[in-house]
Amino acid sequence: MAFATHSLSERPDLLDQVLELDKGAWPDFLRYRDTPHWKHVFDTFAHHQILICDGSNRVAAVGYMVPLVWDGTLTDLPETLDEILVRALQTEEEGRKPNAVCALAAIVAQEYQGRGLSRMILREMRRSGRQLGCADLIIPVRPTWKARYPLIPLEEYVRWTRTDGAPFDPWLRVHWRMGASFLKVARNTLTVEAPVAQWEEWTGVPMPGSGQYVVPGALQPVAVDREADVGVYADPHVWMKHPLANAA
Ligand SMILES: CC(C)(COP(=O)(O)OP(=O)(O)OC[C@H]1O[C@@H](n2cnc3c(N)ncnc32)[C@H](O)[C@@H]1OP(=O)(O)O)[C@@H](O)C(=O)NCCC(=O)NCCS
Repeated sequence: MAFATHSLSERPDLLDQVLELDKGAWPDFLRYRDTPHWKHVFDTFAHHQILICDGSNRVAAVGYMVPLVWDGTLTDLPETLDEILVRALQTEEEGRKPNAVCALAAIVAQEYQGRGLSRMILREMRRSGRQLGCADLIIPVRPTWKARYPLIPLEEYVRWTRTDGAPFDPWLRVHWRMGASFLKVARNTLTVEAPVAQWEEWTGVPMPGSGQYVVPGALQPVAVDREADVGVYADPHVWMKHPLANAA
């Protein structure tokens, strides 16, 4: 099948489809994360958002991305998803020339998964980054199989390999095959904090006492404090870098 690529600013009529795809891609609780600047993805930065459409004009995949200034060091990587957006907004407001593009997420519609569309998104991100004159595409990668191993520290999980030497995680593997390198683990790129009853509703898991709870879709346990009536979850990611200079 032939796919067409657009930016969201070229096809604002597809925003509802994008939001629908987004809604189905994550566990419910991640939609209540601490990202107050997220709306800028769809307005200020709409021209950087990549939409891949099938022959019937249905959105098959999206890639969210923003340009920003990064000094190339591990300590200068934004700590959270919201900090990425704040950095991108600052870069734009101060009229500075971005030297990196930073991906926020890639989503492929379920019926199109496993056909290499994620590589198409990443290639588009790299192409946009090169067009902007950026040196790197940096990405806080959310490993897709980590939720199956919520008790394994992410630092350990990223070192798991298959017998052929490739990363164990399918999504980390896609980046690695495209020549990306591992930068560091970010322990809480997103935080979700909510009353216990809310967590029970989101996850379907009763939480009668305080402690660490394994819930569907979470990459590590949710810390529940019944007395304070709060559950806190930190979503960890793996920073990776695609150099753009010689990228195909
Ligand atoms: C992660 C995601 C973008 C990958 O997209 P994709 O187009 O399916 O990726 P690919 O077709 O390139 O497949 C990547 C790898 O995952 C494997 N894979 C893809 N879909 C799979 C499925 N449903 N079941 C098992 N493995 C699958 C592929 O076999 C491939 O592994 P390989 O190295 O053995 O070939 C997609 O699964 C997705 O949208 N997930 C929900 C949102 C998300 O988690 N995004 C990433 C965090 S930002």
